[in-house]
Amino acid sequence: MKQISVKNLLGVKYLSKDDINLIFETADSFKEILNRKIKKVPTLTGITIANLFFENSTRTKLSFELAEKRLSADIINFSKIGSSISKGETLIDTVNNILAMKVDMIIIRHPSPGAAEFLTSNTNSCIINAGDGTHEHPTQGLLDTYSINEKLGTVDNKRILILGDILHSRVALSNIFALKTLGAKIKVCGPKSLIPKFIHNLDVKYEPNLESGLAWCDAVNILRVQNERMNQTYFPSLREYHNLYGVKLSSIKKLRKEILILHPGPINRGVEITSEVLDNKKTIVLDQVENGVAIRMAVLYLLATKTKGISDSN
Ligand code: CP
Repeated sequence: MKQISVKNLLGVKYLSKDDINLIFETADSFKEILNRKIKKVPTLTGITIANLFFENSTRTKLSFELAEKRLSADIINFSKIGSSISKGETLIDTVNNILAMKVDMIIIRHPSPGAAEFLTSNTNSCIINAGDGTHEHPTQGLLDTYSINEKLGTVDNKRILILGDILHSRVALSNIFALKTLGAKIKVCGPKSLIPKFIHNLDVKYEPNLESGLAWCDAVNILRVQNERMNQTYFPSLREYHNLYGVKLSSIKKLRKEILILHPGPINRGVEITSEVLDNKKTIVLDQVENGVAIRMAVLYLLATKTKGISDSN
């Protein structure tokens, strides 16, 4: 039986091509189960998972919770609001107290980059990063890449444009690592002020012009303008951002080909994408969400197999 090479999922950066392909193959099997009348398997019976969300989430939180339930794990949910964090308890103490309750795996979303990695050095558990600040969001990068692979048949040699607020995005980095590992060509597009300087070190080109970027690509992943992470002004106004970098129906109609349109959500309708484009049939936003459950089931299963001795005879 093939095994994933890592004991924790901290970032796509740490995954090999074989790991990503194994996650995708495993997700294919789970996707088939999710389309059955009874969508549940006993695979993680006896495993307890804690979902720790120190930052808001809709998709990732519910998707992990559903993935765990579909695999028959026992789960507990923690959110910062209403917890003893407000009384001064540290992250390590919080997690060690949760682990003392015989929890096997930790899913963590945290506003600080490196929080998941920090826990692997300071606690004894299997850790899955559900988004750490502006660093990585590995399951999102994997589910986006899986969705592109599913729709285009392959990722190898495909041209992928990542558009928008790259600077504050953890999704961008995880997408870049997953897509590049599988052989895609990547460009980023958006206001120069929202493009990190290190981007060229990742063998990713910058395209300043949206029209040229859309004409070049097979798929565009449109990222949210992350107002909550901006402590200074990066562009004159949302209206100007929309005029220059918002994807509109007119931008799509100008193309002499069909392109795949992704958005990891949540979406600022009318800013980075118009409702007209969003509701277009080439937009695969909800397919991404559907695939997210299968990808998270795959990650949970493969890490539990690796670290908790779950056998594949389940
Ligand atoms: N895509 C994503 O991470 O969405 P949530 O913040 O709702 O989890």
